Amino acid sequence: VQEPDLRGRHVVVSAGGTREPLDPVRFLGNRSSGKQGYALARTAAARGARVTLIAANTQLPDPAGVDVVQVGTAVQLREAVLKAAADADAVVMAAAVADFRPSAYATGKIKKKDDKEPEPIVLVRNPDILAEVSAERARAGQVIVGFAAETDDVLANGRAKLTRKGCDLLVINEVGERKTFGSEENEAVVLGADGSENPVPHGPKEALADIVWDLVVDRLD
Ligand code: C5P
Repeated sequence: VQEPDLRGRHVVVSAGGTREPLDPVRFLGNRSSGKQGYALARTAAARGARVTLIAANTQLPDPAGVDVVQVGTAVQLREAVLKAAADADAVVMAAAVADFRPSAYATGKIKKKDDKEPEPIVLVRNPDILAEVSAERARAGQVIVGFAAETDDVLANGRAKLTRKGCDLLVINEVGERKTFGSEENEAVVLGADGSENPVPHGPKEALADIVWDLVVDRLD
């Protein structure tokens, strides 16, 4: 039985993947299922936390006893995270946020014209929510966790990303064709801003979630 070591704490978890619309029927998206974020929300609730789950385009049932806020785009995710983070003890950014969005949104469906080449899609940068939340620290002692999917030089890239984003912990997943996305299991290394390195063996997303909360609890005042 899990100890209620998050009782009295408010934690915010983002999950899923943003969709950046091109027109009313098309979007740029990613393969994130939201399962890791939902596992984090469930395990935090089981440990006694009040949980706000910001869910971007997930197809999963709402976890019991968790406040779920549905969002679509990175800009909407940012609004929801910043609002919920105002009184949060910890923020875990498990969502896959699009780094870029189309610069323009066509209010009518984009049509093909027989005699013309398609227009290129121009992208603009999305706000980096994790970096912003880390820089702001809405509450003293707030613990902030990021996720990173890396395909090569996993530890070196992860360490650089942790520094760049300014978060306290960064969970690094090695991704490949069959790894991580949509699967029930995960394998990761959790890097700490204090220089720590915690390998997490291959296992259920719930097990990784509990290790993340253990590391968060260690860092809460
Ligand atoms: O830079 P990269 O996308 O690899 O960083 C991943 C981490 O940063 C994740 O925790 C993700 O939720 C967060 N992120 C963000 N805003 C973005 C892009 C990523 O908060 N625009």
